[in-house]
Amino acid sequence: LSSYPSYIDLLPSIQTCNITNLPENYFLKYYLYHALTWPQLSFVAVVRPRGGYKSSSTAIAGNVAGEYPKVVGYVLAKMEEEPTDGLQHGHITSLSVMRTHRRLGIAERLMRMSQRAMAESHRAHFVSLHVRMSNVAALRLYRDTLGFEVEKIENGYYADGEDAYAMHLNLQNMW
Ligand code: ACO
Repeated sequence: LSSYPSYIDLLPSIQTCNITNLPENYFLKYYLYHALTWPQLSFVAVVRPRGGYKSSSTAIAGNVAGEYPKVVGYVLAKMEEEPTDGLQHGHITSLSVMRTHRRLGIAERLMRMSQRAMAESHRAHFVSLHVRMSNVAALRLYRDTLGFEVEKIENGYYADGEDAYAMHLNLQNMW
């Protein structure tokens, strides 16, 4: 594993994946905050560079040559820090998969891994997220594949004024 680039090495590639796929973007320090505070909850899907990985010292040179694995999907997740109802629960900050790698089950797998970690590491009662009402693909993933339910509509939640579905999924059956 020492030859594998760390999650922190991959942050720029995660950020690129986010910027490519979503209008909701974050400073690098926000990804770092997630990684440092809840290291169990965020996951990436990567494609290997040709020739495999280099050792960590040569990987820095390898990075210059573009030899780090490329992130093709990520889930950025956290625990709610001050839950108003007092119940420990997780939250999906962001999820995306590159167009080249969609409909392969990557998002479903990333979500299930994060949900399991929330339940096992933090005894999360449930996981929540927001999704644009127009986002048919994500809605199908959350509602039909993963079993999330709509809790409420949040009017004008997004910066461009679009409404969001606030959704949640019970995790207590995973404890
Ligand atoms: N149309 C309809 N249903 C879809 C679609 C689609 N385009 N994509 C996924 N689904 C549903 C299907 O039920 C699918 O199962 P199936 O392929 O057996 O029919 C199921 O979701 C699982 O699909 P995955 O292959 O796991 O999904 P994928 O890896 O392609 O990623 C995602 C889905 C993340 C929504 C992707 O399309 C994407 O990155 N979109 C742009 C970014 C985005 O909208 N992110 C979510 C924002 S909300 C948030 O971040 C909290």
